[in-house]
Amino acid sequence: MATVLAIETSCDETAAAVVRKRHILSNVVSSQIDIHRPYGGVVPEVASRQHVEFINSVIANAFSQANVTWDDIEGIAVTCAPGLVGALLVGLTAAKTLAMLHNKPLIGVHHLEGHIFASYLQNPDLCPPFLCLLVSGGHTSLIKVEDCGQYQTLGQTRDDAAGEAFDKVARLLGLGYPGGPAIDQISNKGNPQGFKLPEGKISLPEGGFHPYDSSFSGLKTAVLRLVESHQQRAVELPVADMAASFQLTVAQALTRRTINCALNYGLSTIAVGGGVAANSALRYHLQEAAQKHHLQVLFPPLALCTDNAAMIACAGAEHLDRGHTSPITLGALSRLPISQVMQLYSGVL
Ligand code: KG4
Ligand code: ZN
Repeated sequence: MATVLAIETSCDETAAAVVRKRHILSNVVSSQIDIHRPYGGVVPEVASRQHVEFINSVIANAFSQANVTWDDIEGIAVTCAPGLVGALLVGLTAAKTLAMLHNKPLIGVHHLEGHIFASYLQNPDLCPPFLCLLVSGGHTSLIKVEDCGQYQTLGQTRDDAAGEAFDKVARLLGLGYPGGPAIDQISNKGNPQGFKLPEGKISLPEGGFHPYDSSFSGLKTAVLRLVESHQQRAVELPVADMAASFQLTVAQALTRRTINCALNYGLSTIAVGGGVAANSALRYHLQEAAQKHHLQVLFPPLALCTDNAAMIACAGAEHLDRGHTSPITLGALSRLPISQVMQLYSGVL
C-alpha cells in the first residue's frame, strides 16, 4: 500500500502525517486549544489564521520524524470536507501546491472517513463490513462500513452532536473548554446516579422511537434547568455528581443504540471513532455490553480518537491504491454526507 503524506486542518488542529501500509511513520498535531479556550469554543477566523502560521512547520516536522523525502511520497491526502471552510482551505491550498510542485496525485479525504480509518491504523487486519460509532464535536453517527468509500448512515443526531453536548454542558457547569476531557475527569469524583436525566429519544410518526438516532439538546436543557434551580435556591450545585450523571446518560444512550444497531444489522464488529471515543464511561459501558452480546468493539488509542492527520493518510492511501484521486480543482465543502465520498475522486491516476 502507498506511502502518503496527509494534511488535516478541518477544525482547530493543524496536523500532518506520513503513513505507509496502515503503519504510522509520523503523526504531528499542533493543537490550538489554548488559543480558543478564552472564547469557550473554536473561533473559525482565528483557527484559519493559526493554520496558516503553523502549517509549514507541521509538514516539515512530519517529514523529518518519518525520515522520508519527497521521493518516498506517492500521494498527498488532505481533508476537504466537512469542516470549517476557511480552515479546510488552508490545508487544501497547501496540499494542492505541494501536489503541483512535486507532481504527486492529490487525494481529497472526507473527515469522517478519516475517523473510521483510525481503527485500521490500530487494527491493520480489520475487514468490512463493520459498524462504526462516530462520536465527535460535530457528529454522532452510526455508519455501516461496507468497503473503502462505501458507507451507509444508519443513525445520526437530530440536534447537538455528542461532543458538542459535552462542551455545552461543561460550559454550564463552569468546567471550561474543551468540555469532554473536563467532564470525564471530574466525573471520577462524582456519583453517576446523583441526578436522573432524560436520555433524549426521537419519536416516530407511527409510534415508538427511532432505534438509532440521537438527540442531546433535551439533556443539555435538563442540566441547564437544574443549574438554574440550584442558583435560584442559592444551593451549591454538586458539579461532580451532575457531570457524572450527564456522562453516564450519554454513554448509556450511545451504548444502547450502537448494540441494537450492530445486532439488527448482523455486524459483529464495532469500531469507535471521534473525540468522544476517548470518554471513559463510553468505553466501559460499550465494552461491557458488547462482551455480553459476543460483539467485538475496537477503540483506537486516544491520540487517534481526536483529530489527527494519520487517519487521513490511512484513508488516502487506501483510495490511492484503488486509483481514486481528486482533481486539482477540488474545493472545500462545509458539508458532505459520508455516503457521497466517491464524489471527491475523478478516478484517473
Ligand atoms: O474528533 P474531534 O477531535 O473533533 C471533531 O471532529 O469534532 O472531537 C472533539 C470533541 C470535543 O467536543 C471534545 O469535548 C470531545 O471530542 N472529547 C471528549 C473527550 N475527549 C474529547 N468527550 C468526552 N470525553 C472525553 N474524554
Ligand atoms: Zn474529527
